[in-house]
Amino acid sequence: MDYQDILARLKTDRFGKEIVNFQTIDSTSSHAKILASEGAEEGTVVIAEEQLHGRGRQGRSWHATPGKNLTFSLILRPKIDISQIGMIPLFAGVAVLLGIQSATGNTLSLKWPNDILHDGRKICGILVESVVFRHELSAVVVGIGLNVNERDFPPSLRNTSASLVMDGRPDLDRASILAKILLHLEQMYPLLQPARKAELISLWTQHCRHIGKEITVHDAGEMIHGVALGIADDGGLMLETEDGIKKIISGEVPLA
Ligand code: BTN
Repeated sequence: MDYQDILARLKTDRFGKEIVNFQTIDSTSSHAKILASEGAEEGTVVIAEEQLHGRGRQGRSWHATPGKNLTFSLILRPKIDISQIGMIPLFAGVAVLLGIQSATGNTLSLKWPNDILHDGRKICGILVESVVFRHELSAVVVGIGLNVNERDFPPSLRNTSASLVMDGRPDLDRASILAKILLHLEQMYPLLQPARKAELISLWTQHCRHIGKEITVHDAGEMIHGVALGIADDGGLMLETEDGIKKIISGEVPLA
């Protein structure tokens, strides 16, 4: 993707003002973590056409055909207590969802904690990683993998993944989508402040289809079944199970 194309479309004040653009890299998030620990400014974006070792949540890898999709990482330095770190995936999920919707007109939904789905299939994955220095949160790297012009998924992903062009559309302009996502992330960033937590949780819940439904959650190798009650004030998922109400902190809801 051409650097000038991205700049021409950017309407942000800070996010994406510094863009580190690679043809090929191991992982944009691994590189962004190094830049963050070297003092890179908040809002710096690392983007690549191809990742050799794109990383997903829970030790998985991230597949993306080179040159077809968006794979990038944003460095944030939120001034929040480390106990509130679970709110960052929710903020990132809802901001990215609204950015994609405003760029493309697609209606998307969220799956806890921050997957974005199109008709029940995953279209975007987000990996939130912290950079901690002397027990303080020094930076957060939000790694975003969005399937844009992907038309050929490997067999293992074919039934569970989707891309923005799958409904027969011509290829989409990735730079415009990136610019809209960064704009939404920047405009919604204040929602991470404690006084706006209820607003963030409510917005997130409006875009999630599994709240109020019976679901199974994978948590540390365990499958927990229950009714999703809502989001706790630290970003955890509240589940009403046979053994009482449980809070899930680090698991995920599998695709139905
Ligand atoms: C997931 O759903 O498991 C999260 C996937 C996150 C993938 C993105 S692609 C850009 C960034 N760099 C990485 O290595 N991973 C994230």
